[in-house]
Amino acid sequence: MSIKFNIYTAMPRFSKSVSALRSSEIRDLMTLASRPDIISFAGGMPGNDLFPVQAVEELFRELDSKTKQAAFQYAPTPGLPSLLESLEGFLETKGLPVKENRLLITTGSQQALNILGKAFIDRGEAVLVENPCFIGALSAFRSYEAELRGVPVDREGIVIDRLSQEIQRKERAKFLYITPYFHNPAGVLYTTERKEQLIASLQGTNIPLIEDDAYGDLYFFEEDRDRLKPIKAINPDGINVCYTGSFSKILGPGLRLGWMLVPEKIYQKCELIKQSADACSPSFTQVLADAFIRSGQIYSYVASVRHEYKKRASTMVAALREHLPNYVQWNEPRGGFYIWLTLPATADATQIMTLAINGGAVFVAGKTFDPAGQQNNSLRLSYCNNTPEQIVEGIPIVANAIRAICG
Ligand SMILES: Cc1ncc(COP(=O)(O)O)c(C=O)c1O
Repeated sequence: MSIKFNIYTAMPRFSKSVSALRSSEIRDLMTLASRPDIISFAGGMPGNDLFPVQAVEELFRELDSKTKQAAFQYAPTPGLPSLLESLEGFLETKGLPVKENRLLITTGSQQALNILGKAFIDRGEAVLVENPCFIGALSAFRSYEAELRGVPVDREGIVIDRLSQEIQRKERAKFLYITPYFHNPAGVLYTTERKEQLIASLQGTNIPLIEDDAYGDLYFFEEDRDRLKPIKAINPDGINVCYTGSFSKILGPGLRLGWMLVPEKIYQKCELIKQSADACSPSFTQVLADAFIRSGQIYSYVASVRHEYKKRASTMVAALREHLPNYVQWNEPRGGFYIWLTLPATADATQIMTLAINGGAVFVAGKTFDPAGQQNNSLRLSYCNNTPEQIVEGIPIVANAIRAICG
């Protein structure tokens, strides 16, 4: 058979689920905003200057050669046994019921959300998410063609009346996903009362709860410790709580390591799904994370970054107080990475963002986090990867862009 040349190559026949995926206008703007001279309040990334580079170098150097070899080898799908053990110890300090559940190491907690999405969602089925909601969760659930039903969040957490309405709908949702501790993007820390109401609403419904705790360790005030107790640690009867967490914000996202702590019956499915996705998470970084926990440095390191993020947050709060028009509403962060600005109802954050980029600063427009991709009178600022000087220089640019559009 002879090879033909100059034949037109047709569009590959993609699956239905990926054919609907499109690059958003906001993602395209972000590409524009990656210019090095632009001050970015957009990324949810830890501060580059804060990574424990030297500590990790030393920890690796001190490992015995068998452990170093294991770092290059495949690991068991559930995770490196030594890390599972040390991580259990770390999670027990939060009161989590590690013995009555199963722990699965995942490739970032993004993979944990993806696996849970795959475990529960059939095409067209409903899932309940917060509005606004972490974009990574929205895209994970969208990839399984879920119908995303957004439930509003106020300053105390998810709005219970609206949650109850959704729970009572005839077509029952497959799960509820929440980020109760320094919410991304809204910065909210759920009150204890709101968590109790949420538990009461879910009991007896057979709707599992996915509790995403990516930022809980980054609290700024000791008095908030009680409010940070995970629902998984409260261990309420009658709810399958799937708790997810991550090394990304307390060590480094480049490790690509997260976890889920879930009931045995859910674990069984998730382990099979992970097996087919990537067989195991990176052994190299599992070895490093294990050494970091066992050396005790995780506790001292997290305490030091907590302090640094608190300083960055208060610099941003001071700049916002000075420059924002008083019709803008926003949260004073108690931890985590984000400040969420709510603008007058008719404002369009994408327009504001275009102006801000021209001025030299960027943030994320609100509709990115709306499950329906519509509501755009809000925006997310992050202070985590900026120097005080950048914050002081960049916030007036954002404020000017808001005034130019909203008056
Ligand atoms: C709320 C929340 N959950 C999960 C993740 C995923 O983190 P990773 O996959 O790096 O563990 C992030 C990352 O920004 C996040 O903000």
